[in-house]
Amino acid sequence: MPSSVSISLVILVWTTTVITHVGGANTSTVAKSQSSSLHQEAEALIHAQWWWWRYEESPSSPCEWYGIVCNDGGSVIEINVSRTDWYDAQLRNFNFSSFPNLVRFKLAGVGLYGSIPPEIGSVSKLTHLNLSGNSLSGELPLSLAKLTQLEKLDISFNQMSGPIPLQLGNLRSLVELHLGGNFFNGTIPSTLGLLTSLSHLDLHSNQINGTIPSEIYNLKNLMVLHLGTNNLFGPISSKIGNLKNVVSLNLSHNLLIGPLPHTLVCWTNLNLLSLASNQINGSIPLEIGELRELRHLDLYNNSLTGSIPLEIWNLTKLVFLDLGLNNLIGSIPLEIRNLTKLEFLDLSSNYISGIIPEELTQLTPLQYLNLSFNILFGEIPQDVKNFSSLFVLDLSHNNLTGSIPMQLVYCYSLKQLVLSYNQLHGGLPFQVIYNVPAFVDLSHNLLIGNIPPGPGDYSFFRHLDLSFNNLTGTIPESLVYLCQLNMSYNSLEGQIPDNFWRYNTLESVMGNKDLCSDQISGLPHCVQSSLIIIRSTKIKKLNDTKIIVLIIVTLGFFLLGIVFLSRHKIVRNTEHESKPMKNGDLFSIWNYDGNIAFKDIITATEDFDIRYCIGTGGYGSVYKATLPSGRVIALKKLHRLESEEPAFDKSFRNEAKVLSEVRHRNIVKLYGFCLHKRCMFLIYEYIERGSLLYVLSNDVEAKELNWKKRVNIIKGIANALSYLHHDCIPTIVHRDLTTNNILLNSKFEAFVADFGIARPLNPNSSNLTTLAGTYGYIAPELAYTMVVNEKCDVYSFSVVVLETIMGRHPGELISSLASSSTQHIMLKDVLDPRLSPHINQTIAQSVVLLVTLALAGLCSNPKSRPTMKQVSQELSILRSQLPKPFVEISMRQLMNQEIYVIEK
Ligand SMILES: *[C@@H]1O[C@H](CO)[C@@H](O)[C@H](O)[C@H]1NC(C)=O
Ligand SMILES: *[C@@H]1O[C@H](CO)[C@@H](O)[C@H](O)[C@H]1NC(C)=O
Ligand SMILES: *[C@@H]1O[C@H](CO)[C@@H](O)[C@H](O)[C@H]1NC(C)=O
Ligand SMILES: *[C@@H]1O[C@H](CO)[C@@H](O)[C@H](O)[C@H]1NC(C)=O
Ligand SMILES: *[C@@H]1O[C@H](CO)[C@@H](O)[C@H](O)[C@H]1NC(C)=O
Ligand SMILES: *[C@@H]1O[C@H](CO)[C@@H](O)[C@H](O)[C@H]1NC(C)=O
Ligand SMILES: *[C@@H]1O[C@H](CO)[C@@H](O)[C@H](O)[C@H]1NC(C)=O
Ligand SMILES: *[C@@H]1O[C@H](CO)[C@@H](O)[C@H](O)[C@H]1NC(C)=O
Repeated sequence: MPSSVSISLVILVWTTTVITHVGGANTSTVAKSQSSSLHQEAEALIHAQWWWWRYEESPSSPCEWYGIVCNDGGSVIEINVSRTDWYDAQLRNFNFSSFPNLVRFKLAGVGLYGSIPPEIGSVSKLTHLNLSGNSLSGELPLSLAKLTQLEKLDISFNQMSGPIPLQLGNLRSLVELHLGGNFFNGTIPSTLGLLTSLSHLDLHSNQINGTIPSEIYNLKNLMVLHLGTNNLFGPISSKIGNLKNVVSLNLSHNLLIGPLPHTLVCWTNLNLLSLASNQINGSIPLEIGELRELRHLDLYNNSLTGSIPLEIWNLTKLVFLDLGLNNLIGSIPLEIRNLTKLEFLDLSSNYISGIIPEELTQLTPLQYLNLSFNILFGEIPQDVKNFSSLFVLDLSHNNLTGSIPMQLVYCYSLKQLVLSYNQLHGGLPFQVIYNVPAFVDLSHNLLIGNIPPGPGDYSFFRHLDLSFNNLTGTIPESLVYLCQLNMSYNSLEGQIPDNFWRYNTLESVMGNKDLCSDQISGLPHCVQSSLIIIRSTKIKKLNDTKIIVLIIVTLGFFLLGIVFLSRHKIVRNTEHESKPMKNGDLFSIWNYDGNIAFKDIITATEDFDIRYCIGTGGYGSVYKATLPSGRVIALKKLHRLESEEPAFDKSFRNEAKVLSEVRHRNIVKLYGFCLHKRCMFLIYEYIERGSLLYVLSNDVEAKELNWKKRVNIIKGIANALSYLHHDCIPTIVHRDLTTNNILLNSKFEAFVADFGIARPLNPNSSNLTTLAGTYGYIAPELAYTMVVNEKCDVYSFSVVVLETIMGRHPGELISSLASSSTQHIMLKDVLDPRLSPHINQTIAQSVVLLVTLALAGLCSNPKSRPTMKQVSQELSILRSQLPKPFVEISMRQLMNQEIYVIEK
């Protein structure tokens, strides 16, 4: 906080400047009153404390401050700040009545909390008010109705509650009204029908009930109507056809009933139509074929009947078509080839019959194709090699016959292949199952033949289900690294590889007659059976002594084998642990600094001389350099060959983009970048100690990283993630949080790094993704749903928390948490043994809280995990004394939240 002395100094100097400017002979009363009102504005801005770091700088008028625009007279007309990390930002500190000339007031995603004060009604000239993406609560003040000049009002994505005041009907100039993503309840006031200039009406994701008032349909200028995810009920009036200019209409996730009105034919400009998850019945009107501009049609999860009108296949601009979970009949016509732009097609869970036309394979942009749960028959089109963008293919629960097409090998993007519950026969094409890295389900078919040996080296999390087929032969050794393998109910035989049990249980091999293992009870032992075979065949005629000798020899070999195998296993284990590298290849941060010149970089690194290289990864090198200004930077550079590889190029650009839009003290700063084919590099703040993984894996440094520092590191990470999830618009999901991507500076402060695969969550799209991340930190649901949301980061964060507390990756602990024996483990016994077990009361409270939060964050149901905002708030509250001695606390008590309760 600045001292009051320096504040008054700034004001004094600035006021003098203003008077001098206005000055000269004309020191009339006008100038005096102007200067005093300007003085008032300056004081009000300082009082708000939002620009506190500016007060200590050289005297300047607030007009030069970031986000403030003044008119020629020096009076503030615009305050426009978004996505900064203001702490303790409240509107009640802001004196609205001091800004008579304010026209635009935009504080989006700056962490505002508390209520919107009624004084906001005094800024009578306001035309733009945007407070979106904050944490504002309470009801909308009625005084808003006084702002009759308002053209844009955006309070979306806050925690506002109560009714939508009918007085908003006074705001006759309003063009855009955004109140989505709050907790507003009550009904939609019919007075909104008076806002005849309105082009955007967005009330989605609230708790609004009642019917859609018919007055809304008078809003002839409406282009965007978004009322999705509320409790609206009743039929959709045919008057909705009045909205002739509507471009985007989203009424999804409500309780709307009745048929789709035929008046939809009037929506000639319609781009997006979503009525998903309502109770719409009747058939799809033929008039839908007139919506020639339609790109996105989502009627998922309704009660539609009848056949899919042929007219739909004339909507050649469609990119997204979801008719899943209805009662539609009919077949997939050849005309589907007209939809040449289609990326998403879901017709699942209907009664669609007939064959899958070969023409479908002409839709080369397809990324998602789901025809499951229908009554399709015939073969899977063999010519699927065109699907080069496809990443989900689900044809399960049909009656498909024939074999698995070999051409799937060329679907390079495929991440999820589900063909279960069909009548597919023939063998398993080796390339197909091993080229799809994430999720393959071929269960409940008639597949035969051997399981082909895989390449053996799996760096990805995988799920392979081959159960309920008629596969023969043995389980190949190379499959043991798959984490979720199901080969039950086949005709497999022979010894199960020992490493198999690292990731799999008995259930995954049940129902195979002739499998054996010496590692697990419940299966026949291999030694016994091999002895029996030997005895019954070759040795029958030998005398008893010879048999005994043979048994001893066999047992001897067997024991040797065990010794060899277990040594082998140890070697494998250590090989598998990632080798931490100081300032390893995963680095990132952002904040463009125009002072760094390309030339300086070349000079400082002597044209990327190897001497400045501090680490090399698979795709590039990290350099450390000191610029002429004395600033030390880290520079991540792609190797020349790699920069031509699209995946690396994309990850670099993504990182630059994401980091350019965020700013937080626990996120690494990016100073600049070069994203040219010939020089691909990113320049970051240099962070001295390297990754948390490195520090934890080094006994000396790990001891220096005492409990207090570890707790602070976790708080820092939690704050950074809470900022990305809750203060950025759109929400940014990191997707690859690991201890290798947390960097520590000399004071052991944490910085989240590596945003190569981070992505913004688009609130209007399905957020489907390919599986990415680091094995051991990926939330389990990602393998099944492919839908990213911020709860995936909460899972990874929880793994990082346990790893920081335990000093090693908590892999086995996590997988065994459900078992009661694990729950009896005492908390003290999982703590990093390198630190002294005697910890003081405050630290003990923090550790108990951290582990409680982490266990809640590892819930397999993403909805049950706390949000990062909750986590960061929990961590900021001072906790009560522990009710029992620290050493007597067990993991079970933390799982059940018996010590500290996480508020929901
Ligand atoms: C003084 O200011 C007034 C109003 O701004 C203006 O009309 C007048 O011409 C000015 N007089 C001088 C001498 O500048
Ligand atoms: C706010 O500033 C950004 C750039 O900083 C600009 O793009 C945007 O139009 C401004 N918003 C308003 C309401 O003036
Ligand atoms: C709206 O929610 C508030 C609590 O936030 C509740 O008191 C009020 O009764 C609700 N009103 C309606 C109409 O549901
Ligand atoms: C809307 O919800 C509130 C509270 O949930 C309820 O009291 C009210 O009757 C509902 N309104 C209608 C029209 O159903
Ligand atoms: C599809 O469009 C073509 C030409 O645009 C038209 O001739 C045909 O009748 C349309 N088909 C249907 C089923 O509407
Ligand atoms: C759609 O396909 C059918 C048959 O393939 C063709 O006759 C029709 O003209 C196509 N419609 C459009 C709009 O391309
Ligand atoms: C599936 O196909 C088989 C053989 O073609 C047929 O006998 C069976 O009735 C079909 N099942 C369904 C549900 O259509
Ligand atoms: C599985 O295959 C074997 C021969 O490979 C055959 O004898 C057996 O009947 C098949 N079982 C089923 C259920 O098709």
